[in-house]
Amino acid sequence: MNQYNYPTIILSGKGALEEFVTRLKSKSHKQALVVTDEILKSCGVLDQLTRLLKDRGISFSLFSETHPNPTEEDIEKCTAMFKENQCDSIIALGGGSPMDVAKTVRIMAVHSEPLEQYDDAKGGDQRITEPMPPLYAIPTTAGTGSEVGRSAVIIMRKTGKKAIYFHPDLIPDMAVLAPELTAGLPPDITAATGIDAFVHSLEAYFAPGLHPMADGIALMGMELALDWLPIAVKDGGNLDARERMLIAATMGAVAFQKGLGMIHSLAHPLSSRHAMHHGLANALLLSSGVSFLEKADLNQDQSARISRVRSMFGERHMKNQTLADACQHFIQTLGIQSGLLSRGIQKKDLEGLSMEAFEDPCHQTNMMPVDQDDLFSVYEAAF
Ligand SMILES: [Fe+2]
Repeated sequence: MNQYNYPTIILSGKGALEEFVTRLKSKSHKQALVVTDEILKSCGVLDQLTRLLKDRGISFSLFSETHPNPTEEDIEKCTAMFKENQCDSIIALGGGSPMDVAKTVRIMAVHSEPLEQYDDAKGGDQRITEPMPPLYAIPTTAGTGSEVGRSAVIIMRKTGKKAIYFHPDLIPDMAVLAPELTAGLPPDITAATGIDAFVHSLEAYFAPGLHPMADGIALMGMELALDWLPIAVKDGGNLDARERMLIAATMGAVAFQKGLGMIHSLAHPLSSRHAMHHGLANALLLSSGVSFLEKADLNQDQSARISRVRSMFGERHMKNQTLADACQHFIQTLGIQSGLLSRGIQKKDLEGLSMEAFEDPCHQTNMMPVDQDDLFSVYEAAF
């Protein structure tokens, strides 16, 4: 048997932010905690939210000290603010990082053990037992899909390593997809985050296991990205394209509850070891990762899945000798220069990277099992 988890209320499109604040006003919360970061505070995106909150007389506290890779200290500070100001709800505004902080603060606001006790790797999800304050998630990029995610990643003080916090109840109570908030993203970030969304759907569709619901969402998520990502990159102010890409990102994250694949395992060490943007890492590995799949000994279902995605490109008049070629062409049209070498990665780095990629759990749901040599070969092909 399978368990399928689908998300909660999603408000999407122009005016979604206003509608969210209207709904928030009707709830009986006394004090909200807005969790964001300094960049969103300084670029004016936060103002778009706080202006509406003030207009409606909604009282809130503000935490904007989130690090790009959130730390245990962020959680302590933010939890302290939640408690001191007697907050009863959380609004996360940002990319994945403020959402990670907000989700973890939900745990710490109502549980008394030290944070590490709730680490998923230590069975911490079993200790998350108390009802948590509501969380409303407002993404400011279209990529991670964290607004419908049920986990958070925090760097721990003692180990310096990332710990994962997971619980089904960590999924936000409402996701607000407001295209106005992403209109100012520059073309390179738009392209990189959009490719992350595309790869979530692609890897979910290719992941083994019977999950036709996730497959359907993944297929539509890919179509949206193929149709609208080039427009969002070229014309950032196009709110129709921004709206579709926000939906594509949400769909990608909904779909990948089925699993991800080797491209994500290969992408993760490029970020942790070489500080490469996660979406860019996916983009640089997409074509060689897909090429590996296409050349493998495929069964009928696997071949059919690859053909189906390839024909999706073909219907859009994109080069489609192979799916790998089509992906490469797509990346180029988005203005992303391929090649790991051009991003400062050296040949001597590939051994360590492939060791780390093999330790990453994402490839466990790859279309077919892979070993460390396979991962090395994909890095080499992407060099
Ligand atoms: Fe991703």
